[in-house]
Amino acid sequence: MLNTRLRKSILPIIAAAGMFSAATAHAAGDAFKGESYYAVCAGCHGADGMGLESANAPRLQGQFDWYLITQIKNFQSGARGVHKEDKYGATMRAMAGTLPNEQAILDVVAYINKL
Ligand code: HEC
Repeated sequence: MLNTRLRKSILPIIAAAGMFSAATAHAAGDAFKGESYYAVCAGCHGADGMGLESANAPRLQGQFDWYLITQIKNFQSGARGVHKEDKYGATMRAMAGTLPNEQAILDVVAYINKL
């Protein structure tokens, strides 16, 4: 049995370890299918995912999969990219529309993770 003091010091460590593994877990996507979705993305984000300043398109390579998934969904839902003066966001919002469903998002992110 753990005494209360020990439990108080151990639980945050266990919780932190859980958060770490969640952050490094990879999306259940198919990178092979994702490659064909990424063909359009490469025009702005680069074939290597390093981004292109001239297109104002940020680096995607090395980014956490959960963050990429969240941002693609934010563009699709209109949480991001709808302000009338946000022309870059509007461009990306249209591009997020090329991913037809949840699985397509996971697939393209699985491919980006391998870049
Ligand atoms: C026509 C150029 C263009 C294409 C093609 C394009 N993007 Fe983007 N993308 C952008 C721009 C510009 C931004 C920055 C938007 C902003 O300023 O909010 C962006 C932002 C993003 C972000 C958010 C990055 C962050 O750090 O918040 C993700 C994720 C993303 N793009 C993924 C994709 C994917 C996946 C595809 C292919 C389906 C794609 N993009 C195709 C131009 C493009």
